Amino acid sequence: MKVLITGGCGFIGSNFIRYFNTKHPYYKILNVDKLTYAGNLENLKGIERKRNYRFIKADISNTKVMKNCFEKFRPDAVINFAAETHVDRSIVGPSPFIKTNFLGVGVLLNLALRFQIKKFLQISTDEVYGSILRGSFTEHSPLNPSSPYAASKAAADALVMAYYRTHGLPVLITRSSNNYGPYQFPEKLIPLTIINALNNKKIPLYGDGKNVRDWLSVEDNCEAIDIVFQKGSIGETYNVGGENELTNIYIVRKILKILNKSESLITFVKDRPGHDRRYSLSLSKIRRQLDWHPTTSFRKGMDKTIDWYRKHQKWLRNCQTGEYRTFYRKHYSKLGLQEF
Ligand code: NAD
Ligand code: DAU
Repeated sequence: MKVLITGGCGFIGSNFIRYFNTKHPYYKILNVDKLTYAGNLENLKGIERKRNYRFIKADISNTKVMKNCFEKFRPDAVINFAAETHVDRSIVGPSPFIKTNFLGVGVLLNLALRFQIKKFLQISTDEVYGSILRGSFTEHSPLNPSSPYAASKAAADALVMAYYRTHGLPVLITRSSNNYGPYQFPEKLIPLTIINALNNKKIPLYGDGKNVRDWLSVEDNCEAIDIVFQKGSIGETYNVGGENELTNIYIVRKILKILNKSESLITFVKDRPGHDRRYSLSLSKIRRQLDWHPTTSFRKGMDKTIDWYRKHQKWLRNCQTGEYRTFYRKHYSKLGLQEF
């Protein structure tokens, strides 16, 4: 089996390639990644030497280059992780989100059809459903995205399903909740909190800090993605969650406690515009149909994550490129913070 994986140098993609390669050592993998600020070849150290793995630096929205990849590699399947993923960035600059997350998916779908791909798995997000104060979203809930990021992912989901209904392209979609674990770029809440706490810097909490996210260990998500890829019914969407809903303030306090740092580092800042209050997924479909449920306890997952960031200070410093600093200086000064 030859699998074209896009966005494999990012957080979930790199964890997935490691997992997938161990689980299916005879599969051939072509990883296509643009290496944006969030993509890092270091994330796949060790894998790059494997004979069944290849990497190409390319943009999924570039038809000519992607056609070349399909022609040369002749994949049986595509798993699309490539995306712009940070909600705050989509608020200040939505164009790359529309280009990669929507147009890029369009390019991949056209090529998948033309090259008669046997499976196309789109990695989507729970953010496409929007916010829910009580109860949980099922796969049949209407899409109601709040941010430009979420809207670009919802548009991509609609396009994926249109290719299934119109052309019979064999598609699958996973919609997961917030992932945490090793290799997550330090702009997201958990790694940002860990590194700021380790460096005794302020930790910005948006609004009242009581927004709820459902935290899923990246290892659990990789397992679920593989199960959906192997056993999911074509044309179906599967929610993947951690069954671990926590407020942001709880998470930040917990990390500070584990690191033995003072809560005085917490700084409440202006809320994110359009900030979804709560995400919640029903997992009954994936449990019932594919017999999958999350198994990592939050405490175990957090201890492992904190330990990883503690031991990877050089990796962290390498993330803090000029592009990263420019964005954060601007973003932080708007929040009334002077760090970075
Ligand atoms: P990430 O930002 O860590 O990595 C994204 C990767 O995509 C990077 O390696 C980047 O270089 C690459 N990329 C970006 N634009 C590209 C383009 N035009 N062409 C080729 N490569 C490109 O993201 P992540 O957190 O690993 O998320 C991976 C996928 O999972 C995304 O589709 C995201 O929407 C989805 N998702 C993420 C989470 C989460 O909590 N992180 C939750 C649910 C769904
Ligand atoms: O739900 C899945 C989504 O999770 C993915 O689709 C996105 O790609 C991923 O970025 C993530 O989106 P969130 O916006 O939920 O993640 P983030 O880590 O940016 O924020 C988590 C919560 O913490 C959110 O309520 C905003 C808040 N927050 C975030 C940051 C970065 C803060 O209070 N302070 C911060 O500095």
